[in-house]
Amino acid sequence: MSVSSIWSKHAIFEKHSTILMLGILLVISIGGLVEIVPLFYLKSTIEKVDGIRPYTPLELAGRNIYVREGCYACHSQMIRPLRDEVERYGHYSLAAESMYDHPFQWGSKRTGPDLARVGGKYSDMWQLEHLNNPRSLVPASIMPGYPWLAKTPLAAKHIADEMRVLRAEGVPYTEEMITSAQDDLKLQATPEADAEALQARYPKALARDFDGNPEVLTEADALIAYLQQLGTHVDFKLYNNKANVR
Ligand code: HEC
Repeated sequence: MSVSSIWSKHAIFEKHSTILMLGILLVISIGGLVEIVPLFYLKSTIEKVDGIRPYTPLELAGRNIYVREGCYACHSQMIRPLRDEVERYGHYSLAAESMYDHPFQWGSKRTGPDLARVGGKYSDMWQLEHLNNPRSLVPASIMPGYPWLAKTPLAAKHIADEMRVLRAEGVPYTEEMITSAQDDLKLQATPEADAEALQARYPKALARDFDGNPEVLTEADALIAYLQQLGTHVDFKLYNNKANVR
């Protein structure tokens, strides 16, 4: 059979729309299977990365405020692997860095800068002042102020239940983490507290008074604790050869 006679068979598809549709379905299903079937045999599509840990109760409470206030409407938390992004924000985001985020905060709208690695970029006092009134620090800022956060005591009596729900979703909170949730929550924002037990459960957890008001545990304490750890869990010096050089 010559090439041109095989080619002429194609006319069957072009003349009968039902046959064409069946043909399209067949080809798409082969493509779909090739992409989907391997996923059933992989344990996880997320590469394991050292340093990733679940949020402390205080960070989790701060994350809830971040979601409640709609910060994601203007801020993404995913640094794309493109040169301009990496030079501006740091190492591109890894899948593992948001594996314990339910829901994730990748975002698609960037009215403000990406926040995936904002942890440690500014002092706590900068963050506090910026939340109270962004224009006092960045005169041209169009970010709204959130002055009530530093005045509102943190309501987090359900934090242990939330951790249980997250555990059901696959976040590896242990029974010990859950039973000590309320203590950990307060301890993390207590100045000069002995935070060893907290840090044994949550490596690198920052423990201090975050909002300059040690008397009251406020929503600002929680939100700043959350912001200050964003993107800081992975030590990229360990990965430089493997991941950073493209
Ligand atoms: C209407 C859009 C908008 C919303 C909503 C918003 N921001 Fe912003 N944000 C901005 C803009 C624009 C900037 C850049 C100017 C500035 O620093 O104020 C910014 C800057 C920031 C920065 C400094 C980032 C950097 O790398 O310099 C932080 C931190 C931040 N926002 C946190 C938050 C948090 C937390 C919330 C929610 C409580 C929030 N933002 C809500 C627009 C927004």
